[in-house]
Amino acid sequence: MPLAVERNASLKALNSFGVEARAAFFARVHSAAALGELLGAAPYAGLPRLVLGGGSNVLLTRDFDGLAVKIEVPGLRAAGETDEAWLYEVGAGENWHSVVERLLALDRPGLENLALIPGYTGAAPIQNIGAYGLELAERLHSVSAWDVDSPRVVEMPLADCGFGYRDSVFKRELAGKRIVLAVTLALPKRWEPIAGYADVANKLKARGVTQPQARDIFDAVVAIRRRKLPDPAAIGNAGSFFKNPIVTREQHRELIAHHPSLVSYPLPGGRYKLAAGWLIDAAGLKGATRGRAGVYERQALVLVNRGGATGAEVLALAREVQDKVREKFGVMLEPEPVIV
Ligand code: EPU
Repeated sequence: MPLAVERNASLKALNSFGVEARAAFFARVHSAAALGELLGAAPYAGLPRLVLGGGSNVLLTRDFDGLAVKIEVPGLRAAGETDEAWLYEVGAGENWHSVVERLLALDRPGLENLALIPGYTGAAPIQNIGAYGLELAERLHSVSAWDVDSPRVVEMPLADCGFGYRDSVFKRELAGKRIVLAVTLALPKRWEPIAGYADVANKLKARGVTQPQARDIFDAVVAIRRRKLPDPAAIGNAGSFFKNPIVTREQHRELIAHHPSLVSYPLPGGRYKLAAGWLIDAAGLKGATRGRAGVYERQALVLVNRGGATGAEVLALAREVQDKVREKFGVMLEPEPVIV
């Protein structure tokens, strides 16, 4: 198939914030071969690159003077097994939630806590998506990625992905060097429910479920997310805009002394993770509106496009949130999405 590269393309429909930005060049690719051909083609080879999947983890604040590529590699197929897990290879261009649903329908549970996370499968390893007591890293066998320098497809086992809380090598040392084409998921043969997260436990209790099956957890997570988080198709957003910050034992002791209702979680090693949503809420910013950007009413960790906002407006609001939280609590919030 010849390469179809669009010039001066609008990215508005391609980012979940729904902000306008234009790319000097834009192409969709459906295979490793097409990606190789595109990145090797004379006019595009040396340009700055912006890789998009579902566009659910990016804030575009300006036009992009380079090549934007949307990875649309399809496919979901059984890829063998290990002693502990069933393996499934999923193309980077598959919608994440639909993968969770389809595997559940195949009686392959294990991803239900990650239901309704917006975006494509290819983005899942970049920030090691996580919710309700589970992170992708716990269900990932390997990643198939395009290595820009070699250039060829490389298989990266879990151990090479450098996963942490909303973090991976794809965000750090390999940023711009590896482009995710597919992930191989590992779904546990001996499935057990992960139902300890307070919201999930409460929802199951309210529904009278005492021995949850994967479907019960899936339904509970979907209900919780629908209530708390805005649907990007209706209200532009990128999920949590900030990571939950991690502080030392001493900082935590000091904060709790001044703010007894602070929500925090102890981590192994003595540090604490703070609920950034609580910090923003307590700084009085929940529901705030600045221009056409806002802090979501039902979850202060989510910044939203109230209609027609620019990326710069959202970014200005994010800076204000960071400033107010730092002034009040002495804690710096780090954005979760990639800011372009
Ligand atoms: N809270 C407030 N006010 C708010 C929001 C939250 O007081 O406006 C308090 C809540 O009452 C709760 C605590 O903060 O006690 C934590 O809130 P929640 O359970 O909603 O989770 P979160 O820490 O805000 C994280 C993830 C979400 C994920 C949920 C559930 C991050 C940055 N965010 O949010 O992930 O769905 O836990 O596991 O880790 C995402 O990354 O895009 C995302 C939505």
